[in-house]
Amino acid sequence: MRARHHAAFWLPAQAAASLVQIACLERSLAHIAAGWVVKMPAFDAKVAFGLQMHRAMERATALRSRIKGLCHATAEEPTVASGLRSVVSHIDRAQTPDRLAAAVYRWLYPRLIESYKTHLRQTDPDGDRGSIELIRSFLPAIEEERRDGRARSRARWRSDGRAWLGELDELWTARTEGEPLTLENALWGPVDRVRTAARPERTRLSESGSLGLVPADPVGDERDIGMFLHKELDEEYTALELIARNAYEHPDMPWAFHRDMARHASDEARHAVMIARLMTARGFRHGDFAVSVSSYEGLYEFEPCAPGSRKELLWRMLIRQTFMEGLAIDSLAHDIERRRAAGQSDIAEVLEYVLRDEVFHAQSGLRWSRELVGSEPDAIVQAREEAFAYFTARAEAAREAFVINNLDEAMRELAAVQDGKLQRGATPPDRPLNHTGRAQAGYTDEDIRQVVSWGYASEKTGKA
Ligand SMILES: [Fe+2]
Ligand SMILES: [Fe+2]
Repeated sequence: MRARHHAAFWLPAQAAASLVQIACLERSLAHIAAGWVVKMPAFDAKVAFGLQMHRAMERATALRSRIKGLCHATAEEPTVASGLRSVVSHIDRAQTPDRLAAAVYRWLYPRLIESYKTHLRQTDPDGDRGSIELIRSFLPAIEEERRDGRARSRARWRSDGRAWLGELDELWTARTEGEPLTLENALWGPVDRVRTAARPERTRLSESGSLGLVPADPVGDERDIGMFLHKELDEEYTALELIARNAYEHPDMPWAFHRDMARHASDEARHAVMIARLMTARGFRHGDFAVSVSSYEGLYEFEPCAPGSRKELLWRMLIRQTFMEGLAIDSLAHDIERRRAAGQSDIAEVLEYVLRDEVFHAQSGLRWSRELVGSEPDAIVQAREEAFAYFTARAEAAREAFVINNLDEAMRELAAVQDGKLQRGATPPDRPLNHTGRAQAGYTDEDIRQVVSWGYASEKTGKA
């Protein structure tokens, strides 16, 4: 009788089946982080989720192409069971930010790491070397994410979480049951709408309709520089929150869209870290001035768009990414020069990096807006016109209501604006078009003509 030789290691199909589970966990982690950025009150948690959303999405993408490599020859597509989706979507339904953090860092990460390590142990060290090298390159960062996450949530961790993690344990035992799902179909729809951005307790918020912070001399005066940075920081946080929700609320958009949104969110998280660094060096803290959430809450929904619709997504992208971030491309280039001339090379250095990223943000906004609006040459310009008209009309109404209810405050704001004009020698704020940056981002002449016609940017170059 001939001796039987059992395979010592996994076959390619088994390796692919293992990787698809892991890829699904990573993709789900990115999805959960995207949904929760805006709901976490602590800024360090928002930043961490922004960064992790991108890292997890990139790991899922690398695993996805490795899975294709293992399955292409046999035209198979490995699947996960809907039981796995039940576990991760249950995490997403956590009742509080503390529970969410506990579920992610104390429960999900250990299981994710264990799945990676199991793969390393069981797979063929030569046949599946591609997977092994990927996993080895991932593990140090994943271990670090878990450590940092646990350290951040330690003080907030309560024993009442035991029952909550028990629910997850129970679902985990049934993770291989249920209908088969492909990686692309393994996500779940949004569990909520989030109109209000969470901020730490006792945050002093600037009121809707207020002009917000009006630094008269943001280059020359120390306090006004602090105010300028404070405004910037609010823009970074709110951009991070909105972009993350754009991804989370539209899981059925293509994989490439989600990669772009994850990179964008992670960029905004890095920007926040850099701006906070500049503020700390000058003795300012976030919260020293009134905090603004208007770039999230004012862009979240629009009456003419059905909640959760593609049109709503389109309007958010058109206003945030193709209008506001387009203006940032112009003003950053201009500001970098002013800061250099004023000897503020630390701010100039940070803004140089921000500008690099901003071009990608506008480019991605243009790409995905075109995808949604269709390929007609002026469709995007028309859609932007419609979105912008609604947006400005609503802002004007909010301003009017604010002035009626807060006359003294409104007068003070106008005085600050006047002061700024005097500082500049009675000329309006100068925002010369950054033609190179806009061309690199993919703006057409039509797009540029539109923003100039609205009066937000001009052909004239600096008069300083
Ligand atoms: Fe930014
Ligand atoms: Fe940006």
